[in-house]
Amino acid sequence: MNKFGRRDSVMKNSDEPQVEEIKSNKDAGPYSANSKGLRLSPRAILEHHDQSSEMDCLRRLAGRSIVHPKQFDRKTVVALCKLAALLENRNVELEKPLDGKIAITAFFEASTRTRLSFESAVLRLDGKVLSVPDGQVTGIAKGESLADIGEMFNTYGDVVIMRHPETDSVEQIQKNLQRPLINAGNGSGHHPTQALIDWFALLKWRPVLMDECCPKDKRIHLGIVGTPGSMRAVKSFLRLSLMFTGAVKKITVISEMADPVGLDLSEPIEESPIPMEITNDLQDVLPELEVVYVKSIAFLGDSYRNLHSRYKVDTRCGLKPDSVVMHPLARNEELSTELDNTGHNLYFAQAAGAVFLRQALLIAVLDRLDHVVEIQ
Ligand code: CP
Repeated sequence: MNKFGRRDSVMKNSDEPQVEEIKSNKDAGPYSANSKGLRLSPRAILEHHDQSSEMDCLRRLAGRSIVHPKQFDRKTVVALCKLAALLENRNVELEKPLDGKIAITAFFEASTRTRLSFESAVLRLDGKVLSVPDGQVTGIAKGESLADIGEMFNTYGDVVIMRHPETDSVEQIQKNLQRPLINAGNGSGHHPTQALIDWFALLKWRPVLMDECCPKDKRIHLGIVGTPGSMRAVKSFLRLSLMFTGAVKKITVISEMADPVGLDLSEPIEESPIPMEITNDLQDVLPELEVVYVKSIAFLGDSYRNLHSRYKVDTRCGLKPDSVVMHPLARNEELSTELDNTGHNLYFAQAAGAVFLRQALLIAVLDRLDHVVEIQ
């Protein structure tokens, strides 16, 4: 039985942000692959974390569909990030973990990062991929139902990773699908694996956030620029952030809308001890924020809407010197490319961690943890 352990290495104090700032490609270090912005070390997570009960958390994911962030708790998120860090830092021997498994990536809506990082994750674990890069190449173009497509997938693959513009698409395909389903974004619903990736980046940046009770001076005031109620990635990130009660001291949502949060999140927000406020004044709150999460595109039924042009994060907007900016990407005008070559840029590191986090999730969901042997 493999057990996650520690590798001897020289580390900075693990309470400090574990980052190096990339000035040019020549500065690139050994671990991750983003070309600009903060480069995060997976060793930060490996050195910091208390390892008890991690495997139990991960084993409970075997055979399960991943459709909503509420399925996770803080310990499971940390355990997934720990496995992802082991994979990223090459602290494991992989015994072809997904050998014999076929993943179906069924994308009925456009994607750059999610589909390709999932497919990369599967291929790097020696699995195989059946890819639907556009729903119009399926029977959907002739009026076929998602329920019927789900029935077909039962014999074509071992796990289905689906993105769809309709919020009820998860429910529709699950009418007949018996394989684990990973929700890669459903309309204005959720994008749970993006939220896991976001926390993977945050924990590498400041590993002490993993602690059940993080020291008060290390806790973060998190600002969310956007409309969580209609932005699935933001909604999932906020939902997961509410679980980190010992790490997040306050959440401020910055939006032009009177009720940007929506019904789906009202209960967990009420139940969480983390105070939350809503403002429409970005400049007013920016100097208080350690982490600024930005997103512009909101889903409104079958159309999209961009955030108002006054919500723009750039080098002149008043960011706190040590703060980091997160964005699930793709971006528009709301996030200036001026920030790419600065220490505020955590968004490229978010994207760079996606393959490892998705590898960790697939290994757990497909019950192949014992094909991953840690190098002591
Ligand atoms: N973050 C994200 O979901 O990106 P894609 O739309 O490119 O998949």
